[in-house]
Amino acid sequence: MILGIESSCDETAAAVVRAGRETLSNIVASQIATHARFGGVVPELASREHLRNIVPVVRAALEQAGVGLRDLDAIAVTSGPGLAGALLVGITYAKSLAYALAKPLIAVNHLEGHIHAVLLEAAAKEGAPIETPETPILALVVSGGHTHLYLADYIHEDNTDSSWHYENVGRTVDDAAGEAFDKVAKLLGLPYPGGPWIDALAPHGDPKAVPFAFAQVKNKVGKQRPAFEAGGPEPKTMFSFSGIKTAVLRYVETHDLKSSCSARQQALAALTAPRPSDAVALCDAQTLDLIASFQHAVVGDLLSKTFRAAGALDVRSLLVTGGVAANSELRTRFIAEAAARNLPIAFPSLALSTDNAAMIAAAAWPKLVARDFAGPGLNADPSLSLGRG
Ligand code: KG4
Ligand code: ZN
Repeated sequence: MILGIESSCDETAAAVVRAGRETLSNIVASQIATHARFGGVVPELASREHLRNIVPVVRAALEQAGVGLRDLDAIAVTSGPGLAGALLVGITYAKSLAYALAKPLIAVNHLEGHIHAVLLEAAAKEGAPIETPETPILALVVSGGHTHLYLADYIHEDNTDSSWHYENVGRTVDDAAGEAFDKVAKLLGLPYPGGPWIDALAPHGDPKAVPFAFAQVKNKVGKQRPAFEAGGPEPKTMFSFSGIKTAVLRYVETHDLKSSCSARQQALAALTAPRPSDAVALCDAQTLDLIASFQHAVVGDLLSKTFRAAGALDVRSLLVTGGVAANSELRTRFIAEAAARNLPIAFPSLALSTDNAAMIAAAAWPKLVARDFAGPGLNADPSLSLGRG
């Protein structure tokens, strides 16, 4: 039974997961209300909120699971990537707890956590083998801070040392996809975080109204790289989302939408609990078309590049995770494309798409089995990368 702790960005989370497959509790304290008026996460405030929340959140996770601290087999914590001060709160707390209880401490990469959100739910299905979805998997991790493609494989080395291995086969050269959602929403006067708002408003507009184009980004890291296990050499997939953000800004400027955006921002800020239906009423048809077209273009770019990489790397299944994986258009179009190509695809439930600690406790399970523990010197690594590549 592992207690997972997550504090890398703006959610303080704790969860108890048994054997990497049974979630006994999953508590998330969101800081959205704290950061909303700044239109983004303020690192200093995030650390302070984590400090206030960590004790009650861990207590609630233990209570919901019906277990005591002594019943735990290990404490797992996100060690990066993320905000340094935010990560430190979880790490320091986890280290102290592990030391006081004389239990092992396990460091988990946040990105591996997002991948394990899906593996946890697949494993929860009775009798499912540990390698579900079928390996090798192409995993798209798409959130507010990340847009990465990983080739994930479960390697049976021997009975004691089988584990998940990852290779980075794609990344963004500038903004993350979720960041583009958030920045475009802010520009249009919508609340933070913008992804769910754009998701809710997009069906009210015409996705073909504004033809956004994505430039093909060249792989500057090196022309070719070896793809492990799967196929021959493949160039890394490169995403870029800062161009479309600028294109939306230009559209707003050239179509004189600036004043209506600030009027919308003020009208929504005046409501105690604004809902998407309030925002729809505050958007003209042109703005709704812009929102629908933006989302359609971003999802289209994620889709075409991910499926192209899946074909080139000859993977057995696809997995999409991270906050943006909650997007309805993304889910619908990815599911349809995967079905057309006869490629199994898996998403986390909506609750496990965004940051949580169940995914951290689940990712820690193979490390507990392999006795891959962190020492007392564990520190936050804000730019921690995952796997090779
Ligand atoms: O995984 P997450 O909670 O935190 C990070 O690790 O970044 O992802 C948060 C991001 C935000 O950018 C948010 O706007 C985006 O996920 N997001 C969405 C949706 N729900 C959350 N983006 C598009 N559509 C959604 N439904
Ligand atoms: Zn995340």
